[in-house]
Amino acid sequence: MTESPIGIFDSGFGGLTVAREVLDQLPHESVLYLGDTARAPYGPQPIAVVRANALQCLDRLVDHGVKALVIACNSASAAVLADARERYDVPVVEVIRPAVRRAVSVTHSGRVAVISTRATHQSRAYLDAFTAAPAHVRVLSQPCPRFVDFVEEGITSGPEVIETAREYLAPLQEADIDTVILGCTHYPLLTSVLTYVLGERVALVSSAAATAADLFRVLTDTGLLRPSGSEAPTHQFLTTGDPHGFTPLARRFLGPEVEHVARAYVGRPEERSA
Ligand code: DGL
Repeated sequence: MTESPIGIFDSGFGGLTVAREVLDQLPHESVLYLGDTARAPYGPQPIAVVRANALQCLDRLVDHGVKALVIACNSASAAVLADARERYDVPVVEVIRPAVRRAVSVTHSGRVAVISTRATHQSRAYLDAFTAAPAHVRVLSQPCPRFVDFVEEGITSGPEVIETAREYLAPLQEADIDTVILGCTHYPLLTSVLTYVLGERVALVSSAAATAADLFRVLTDTGLLRPSGSEAPTHQFLTTGDPHGFTPLARRFLGPEVEHVARAYVGRPEERSA
């Protein structure tokens, strides 16, 4: 079982920021990544649709025999947080609770913000996760829907994205926030813009880094971690969209490890046996 890959699921490419952290923090693990690019973006869609699509993808990864599931997508984590752990026999790690724990330990003033897609914002999943935090911690949720488009278009600097960031982040500055959770897979690629607008005294918490650390903890505690000295791991990437279109953008998010990309048919039973 330790030899089985870790299944990482995202709506599309963005979860590769989480996969990058997993490869860095757990270098002996093999990864099977599934991006539901054919039905992305999840962020603007109703939470019930996000939930149904996410569960189909997670079921598919479990069918492939993964030893653990990582829900890298914040919108999907928000949609299935309540019951994904009961649904599967393998450990499930999602991005919301690890990021909340990290933010609580990082904040000095107790004034924290979460920036995210509209689906994640509307689900209130981050706000719910903060109810277990100490009483002095206050959280503000701010949707930043255009950020995903900027990143996917390769626009991670320049006046347009900086101006948009200023508009989205103004309420955070008014509230004198000292810690911001990047509650969307794409936002680590905007770290420079966010720091430029917010200033260096505001701590940015990447859900990718916090999630990879949580995965390490879970695999260690369950005895599922692949030992150091194992043979080189192998990584595989599945997309519900066009594999040829997936590869270049995937390399931008993750790096040269993106080699084996194949098509996955999810949610269309007539094609599953193909
Ligand atoms: N992966 C999504 C998230 O983290 C962002 C992209 C999308 O909207 O599908 O919320």
